[in-house]
Amino acid sequence: MAPQRRGATKAPGGSGAVERRRPISTKKDRAPREAQRMWLRTAGLGAGLAFSVFLLWSSLGADDGVAEVLAHRGEVLAGRFIEVPCSEDYNSHRRFEGCTPRKCGRGVTDVVITRQEAERIRSIAEKGLSLGGSDGGASILDLHSGALSVGKHFVNLYRYFGDKIRTIFSEEDFRLYRDVRQKVQLTIAEAFGISPSSLHLTKPTFFSRINSTAARTAHDEYWHAHVDKVTYGSFDYTSLLYLSDYLEDFGGGRFVFMEEGANKTVEPRAGRVSFFTSGSENLHRVEKVHWGTRYAITIAFSCNPDHGIADPAFP
Ligand SMILES: *[C@@H]1O[C@H](CO)[C@@H](O)[C@H](O)[C@H]1NC(C)=O
Ligand SMILES: *[C@@H]1O[C@H](CO)[C@@H](O)[C@H](O)[C@H]1NC(C)=O
Repeated sequence: MAPQRRGATKAPGGSGAVERRRPISTKKDRAPREAQRMWLRTAGLGAGLAFSVFLLWSSLGADDGVAEVLAHRGEVLAGRFIEVPCSEDYNSHRRFEGCTPRKCGRGVTDVVITRQEAERIRSIAEKGLSLGGSDGGASILDLHSGALSVGKHFVNLYRYFGDKIRTIFSEEDFRLYRDVRQKVQLTIAEAFGISPSSLHLTKPTFFSRINSTAARTAHDEYWHAHVDKVTYGSFDYTSLLYLSDYLEDFGGGRFVFMEEGANKTVEPRAGRVSFFTSGSENLHRVEKVHWGTRYAITIAFSCNPDHGIADPAFP
């Protein structure tokens, strides 16, 4: 009631507005009073319903476990970096001074790869993945090893398609892929204060295409929380280059850093690079994609030169 009264006094004419209202509520007729009671009952019911919907909505909101957005789809971030204490995961591997993380954290930038570059890179993914595709919702294409999802398995695209592959990809595609990898490597090195040459591209580095089709094999289950360094011992720094836009090209599919008390999401945006140290300080998952198709590249780096791989060469 109070806000309403305040509103009335603020109305043109000041207190006069309140005075003019009074006669309505003091009418002696029965009918308006009945109507008023009825109206109050309806309003009460409405408020109760709205409150229940709110409770339901907030409980659903809590269920999806999203507390804070690290990067909104609509933002153009010139570089955001958040430092987090390193886990001990790196201690169980050989250390490489000047590379093995001493400073850990996660960063997001929208100014390293242009949207045009992202579009061109995405068309490489589209061309390659159109040759195969998982029966489940998650397909990968690895230009390094040639691995391509087909049905419930993988084939080696270079072996399977032979010389025909030269008519699908161009030398320019491979040049672009290498340039993008290089820019991402420089970005990571700068953010963590290490030399770019201490980082070695490692496997698996691959394109992913995800849609809402249900998983058919364990390979299709991308949404489980995991630590990259546990899954792939060689990883020290993980990066993702997004090639499509959250809520424009697909729904769901946000990247979530999982933390006690505060999950942090990265909303994909074409050209957005998100990178982080691969240990359990960066436990993460990807939400299930609910509609549309989500494209991204995972580009991984190791400090151990023995785990290094070369850029893919035009076959
Ligand atoms: C998802 O992709 C697969 C190929 O990997 C395709 O068979 C399926 O029809 C797609 N689903 C939707 C909903 O577009
Ligand atoms: C973080 O997300 C997970 C799963 O997505 C959820 O179980 C957990 O409750 C969330 N944590 C918070 C604090 O929201």
